[in-house]
Amino acid sequence: MRLPKSPQTSEVSKPPGGDGGAMLARVTSCALIGLDGAIVEVEVDTSRGLPGIIIVGLPDTAVQESRERVRAAIKNSGFFYPDKRLTVNLAPADLRKEGPAYDLPIAVGILLATEQIWPQRVENALFVGELSLDGSVRHTTGILPMAALANERGIRTAFVPAEDAPEAALIHGLEVIPVTDLSSLATHLQGLHSIEPYRYDLEPGAAKSPPYAVDFSHVKGQEHVKRALEVAAAGGHNVLLTGPPGAGKTLLARSMPSILPQMTTEECLEVTKIYSIAGLLPPETPLIHHRPFRAPHHTISHAGLVGGGQWPRPGEISLGHRGVLFLDELPEFGMRTLEVLRQPLEDKIVTISRAQGTLTFPANFMLIAAMNPCPCGYFGDPVKECTCSLSMVSRYQKRISGPLLDRIDIHIDVPRVEYDKLTEDRLGEKSEHIRARVERAREVQRRRFEGTVLRCNGDMGPAEIREYCGIDDAGRSLLKAAMQQLSMSARAFHRVLKLARTIADLAGSERIETPHLAEAIQYRPRRRD
Ligand SMILES: Nc1ncnc2c1ncn2[C@@H]1O[C@H](COP(=O)(O)OP(=O)(O)O)[C@@H](O)[C@H]1O
Ligand SMILES: [Mg+2]
Repeated sequence: MRLPKSPQTSEVSKPPGGDGGAMLARVTSCALIGLDGAIVEVEVDTSRGLPGIIIVGLPDTAVQESRERVRAAIKNSGFFYPDKRLTVNLAPADLRKEGPAYDLPIAVGILLATEQIWPQRVENALFVGELSLDGSVRHTTGILPMAALANERGIRTAFVPAEDAPEAALIHGLEVIPVTDLSSLATHLQGLHSIEPYRYDLEPGAAKSPPYAVDFSHVKGQEHVKRALEVAAAGGHNVLLTGPPGAGKTLLARSMPSILPQMTTEECLEVTKIYSIAGLLPPETPLIHHRPFRAPHHTISHAGLVGGGQWPRPGEISLGHRGVLFLDELPEFGMRTLEVLRQPLEDKIVTISRAQGTLTFPANFMLIAAMNPCPCGYFGDPVKECTCSLSMVSRYQKRISGPLLDRIDIHIDVPRVEYDKLTEDRLGEKSEHIRARVERAREVQRRRFEGTVLRCNGDMGPAEIREYCGIDDAGRSLLKAAMQQLSMSARAFHRVLKLARTIADLAGSERIETPHLAEAIQYRPRRRD
């Protein structure tokens, strides 16, 4: 079939008077650096010369391999592949292009340069996606941040793999065209048969609470631990649970998701972007509504925990962003692994160094860690005798460095539960009641930090601490005594104030009173010698 010639050729220009066969086509695509996108222009030039295709503009090997995929996909979709010299330029040239997502824009560029499709529908549109040899378009990671960037830059339409359309459609105002294969995309771009834009309705009521694996009401006794976890959830504070085996540390930590506050829509999108890049979004529910709870095993690799790899993927600490990172059996993680947590715990982001420069991922997680007090597990237990020597106990505890412990606001002992408590029929307070209190305290914080990037008391820096954590004379003298007795660092001092702020918020008190401060101090670790 002969197609009508396009009247508009703004994107395809013939150089004046040159060799009649030369063409330049431009297609817009997107690169990701960490969580941020950058617009990439894919230019395809055809000229006479030795047939072949070269890709320039700092492509990595996966982009180089595009050549083979694109050629096969174009031929197998029934199009003609030019017997010419093709030059593909990915601009800007100083930005490294990674991964297979440029297949689709390169293929569209070639079809455009060879006048097999028309430019009208290519203009002001974003193209991303990996091609199979048969021309079908495959799932590609990172679609959500790319769609967000396109929308910010005023691009009207995004052509994305059909599988990833629900994800792109989370961005309001962007027209999302789901692409299953190259030939149906081409008929759409030729204006012969349009593909329906994808529509995904994000109803606000969609965030129903899931059935939680464990409810706090099923945990017997341990009331002081539940209280500490409630405070932690209310203000986003880090927790270390220490106690003998079988005391319920893992059980308590795993009940945490049931009392975490709801995420705002903005937070949902933030978390979803990270999961999009990691390729971990469930296809049928593209928006992550619930705060993540990540519990990596202690054998996890360095890159698995902090992120990295050839195409940098977020690690567990970023997957736990706005949620919980649970490190069970903390000392087993090893010194080196734990030390890398120090920067993200302080800055709420993680910086990954690579040959091509550094990049950052968000990592604002709440750390919940659990450990036994000694190698045998029974140090300090009133019933079972500890078989470790004092030096063994000390060596074991020193596997967690002082600077790391300093960044944990709440240190809490989880003693064994007595038989009577464990066997009593009465259920404890339900998680939903605890969560209601947590939500109330968060609401106070939301109003406090309105218009800033801060979300909860745990995010406060020294300036906010000075502004919101004022204490009276009685409080000051209590803190002074505590600082001496517990040999607290300046950081610990600030952390106590933040924690006291949360406790006051939970109590609905505008001012930090002495009892709030006293409870916060009580969560500091005792001195270790
Ligand atoms: N306080 C508790 N209330 C109810 N069951 C408990 C409690 N503590 C422990 N258990 C039971 O013991 C099991 C082991 O607890 P776990 O949380 O794994 O202990 P730990 O991590 O401290 O070694 C739990 O799965 C649960 O069945
Ligand atoms: Mg355990």
